[in-house]
Order: sequence, then C-alpha cells, then structure tokens
Amino acid sequence: MIKIAPSMLSADFADLKNQIQMVEKAGADWLHIDVMDGAFVPNISFGPCVIEKIRPHSNLFFDVHLMVDKPERYLADYKKVGADLITVHAEATTHLHRTVQCIRDLGVMVGVALNPATDPSVLRYVIDDIDMVLVMSVNPGFGGQKYIPSAAKKIAEIKEMAQGRDLLIEVDGGINEKTLPEVYQAGANVIVAGSAVFCAEDPAGVIKTFRKITE
Ligand code: DX5
Ligand code: ZN
Repeated sequence: MIKIAPSMLSADFADLKNQIQMVEKAGADWLHIDVMDGAFVPNISFGPCVIEKIRPHSNLFFDVHLMVDKPERYLADYKKVGADLITVHAEATTHLHRTVQCIRDLGVMVGVALNPATDPSVLRYVIDDIDMVLVMSVNPGFGGQKYIPSAAKKIAEIKEMAQGRDLLIEVDGGINEKTLPEVYQAGANVIVAGSAVFCAEDPAGVIKTFRKITE
C-alpha cells in the first residue's frame, strides 16, 4: 500500500498544530517536511526549531526533505528534533556516500532526492545503502507547481535499478488526482501532496481518492 505524505509547506503556518492534526485525522501516513535554505533553492521555509515545536503534537512519521546546501552540517540537528527519515539532495553534497552513512549512523531512515534534470545513475553506488529515493517532479523550492512528466520515466528506471528489493520511491511535486495514476503505475509508493491536500475543501476526501486510485 502506498504512503500518503501531505507536505506541510502548503499548510497555514499561523495554525500549524491544528493543520497537522487535521491531516493526521484525514488519513495521512506521513508528514512531509520541506526545509529550504535560500541557497540550494530560491526559497526559505523553516528549520529545526519549528519541527521541534510540532513533534509533540503529532504521531505522524516525520519525513524531512532537506533542500539545503551541504546538508551534512545539520543532520544531527534534524535527528534531535524528531525526524524519522532524512532525505538529502544528491546535488547538494559532495560526498553523497559519506552523507548517507552519517544519516544511517544517527539511526534514522535515509533518503536521497534527485532534481528533475539529475540522472538516476548517480544512485548506482548508494542504492543498496538507502531506504528511499525521492524523485522531484517539479524543480524544488515552491509548492503548487506543475508536474513535470519525465518524472514517471525516472521512477520506472529507479524501480528497475532496485531489482525487486524493498525500496521506497517517493514522488514530490504537482501530484493530484490527475497526475497520480501515471507515477503510481511507474512505481512510486510514497506520494507527497502539498496543495492538493492542504488547499482542498475536503482533505480527507482527497486522501480517500488517492487510496482508491492506487488500490
Ligand atoms: C517543493 C517541495 C514539495 C512541495 C510540494 O520544493 O519539495 O514538497 O511542497 O507541493 P505540491 O504538492 O503543491 O506541488
Ligand atoms: Zn518536498
């Protein structure tokens, strides 16, 4: 069964606690938490102190997506505030293998993210050491962007590279009821949805529809 991970970036930050509890009640599995540094991506979101404040108010799995240059500088901070999984961008760290090992040593799950133009071949020598690949289906930095169709091909290639092992493949960006079928069929099993869930009139209805599409 797929995991559904609403992206907190599209939540109302003035009402964060209630918004997170709302998606938990609506049937979300994970909370996708987008950290942006204004350097790796053009936007700035929030850092560990915000995550620390929300952690006691949610039982959701905290899926932390670091859109940050040299993320190796901050890994321990995110573990400390309650990340269950830390994803770094392959493009943001010079020594990807070492960064992956550092996350593993902290005792949390490990993800590697790829921008739309990045070839999945960069994963070849780390794929056996990671729990998840995050395929960006928009250029990272903002919620509410349009899905880039080449993501489905990339997901299928990564599924093939994983050779049947239990790899999580997360897709992030522009996912809604229309774009979900193609990424699901390609092999995505963790679905991030920011605006599609948080900006919906009926978030629980959207999550139910996502489950139906992927039954
Ligand atoms: C974009 C972020 C995404 C974003 C997705 O850089 O990584 O997680 O919040 O938002 P939607 O689903 O609205 O495209
Ligand atoms: Zn994200």
